[in-house]
Amino acid sequence: MQTYYWKLQNNAADDEIIIKAAEFIRQGEVVAFPTETVYGLGADGLNSEAVAKIFAAKGRPNDNPLILHIAAKESISRLTSGLTENAKVLMDRFWPGPLTLIVEKSAIVPDAVSAGLPTVAVRFPSNVFAQRLIKACGCPIAAPSANISGRPSPTNAADVLEDMQGKVAAVLDGGSCGIGLESTVVDTTEPVPVILRPGGITYEMLTEVLGAVEIDPALQGDKNFRPKAPGMKYRHYAPKAPMYLLEGKSAELLPSMAVKAAAEGLKVGVLCSGAMKVLLPAIPGMQLACWGDSKEELAAELFYLLRDFDRSRPDVILAEGIDESGIGLAVMNRMRKAAGYQLVTLTDTGLRIKNGTQLPSFMVK
Ligand code: TXA
Ligand code: MG
Repeated sequence: MQTYYWKLQNNAADDEIIIKAAEFIRQGEVVAFPTETVYGLGADGLNSEAVAKIFAAKGRPNDNPLILHIAAKESISRLTSGLTENAKVLMDRFWPGPLTLIVEKSAIVPDAVSAGLPTVAVRFPSNVFAQRLIKACGCPIAAPSANISGRPSPTNAADVLEDMQGKVAAVLDGGSCGIGLESTVVDTTEPVPVILRPGGITYEMLTEVLGAVEIDPALQGDKNFRPKAPGMKYRHYAPKAPMYLLEGKSAELLPSMAVKAAAEGLKVGVLCSGAMKVLLPAIPGMQLACWGDSKEELAAELFYLLRDFDRSRPDVILAEGIDESGIGLAVMNRMRKAAGYQLVTLTDTGLRIKNGTQLPSFMVK
């Protein structure tokens, strides 16, 4: 299939592009578009055949439901059989923005979208291009992140094309996504709302308006819990090289681990802060991916940096963990998944990997 590439420029020419893209979506085709979180792969959310094309383009398991994107708060009413008070409070406070609400679904939502669940995920993005596209379509747009299933979500149009060239009708280029991590998903159907996926709307922001909020216990990687968001159970964001996430104090050992791994002949990838970078000795062949000063910068760059490792192809990746306040919770959730839960901690008895995996030789004294 030919994939059209259209660059949005914030000028009058955009109108024509949006109309052409909306036309494709109304005809049942798939179009990739920017949002403030990550790029989405959009189709008419009320057309099962169009929605099936999204699953095909991504290679996505069909037990993983999609988010319906709307461009006005009122548009949620025909998609749901009823909203809880908590849902209304969250819509008023955080929409438009990076927050997805799980609500009871109405009969017009196809099973292909909800993956047979009695609930549906709904989001009103703040990105103006996304809003214009949804309005021009006149229907809710079903859209997952625009990556091949399992790969890091794309945060710029080049990364979308890397995965979707030839598989979708068009890619709209609206520049880099500001937040860089997918939206916070909150189940509003429970008496106490539950965060199923952390994101740009943080735990602290949610508790401030709601009081009590729970976090799905499965997010810690404990195999005794099954995540309530089906998509959270898959290995995800995974670079091709094995990755170790150094949590807490263990991060202080990153420079010496990198030296030992290189001495063993491994090509080492390092994902770390600017403060850690200055502590690293020069290591031949090291692939360094460094973020700036703030967690927000790391959030915005994380997926791009993980994809970059698939281009530079290190043998092993050592990543520095960060504290989990604010957007740190979402960043650490994505990094833990990228590491396949190979989480390194420093205990009284020395280093260990939380999921019981054996320490690699370059972490053993
Ligand atoms: O920021 C975002 O949310 C991006 C942009 C494009 O809007 N979209 C996105 O979609 O990340 P996706 O499909 O990659 O992730 C949706 C997540 C998945 O983990 C899915 O399992 C969960 O939301 N989800 C969708 N519907 C659900 C439902 N009814 N109940 C529980 N989880 C649901
Ligand atoms: Mg995704």
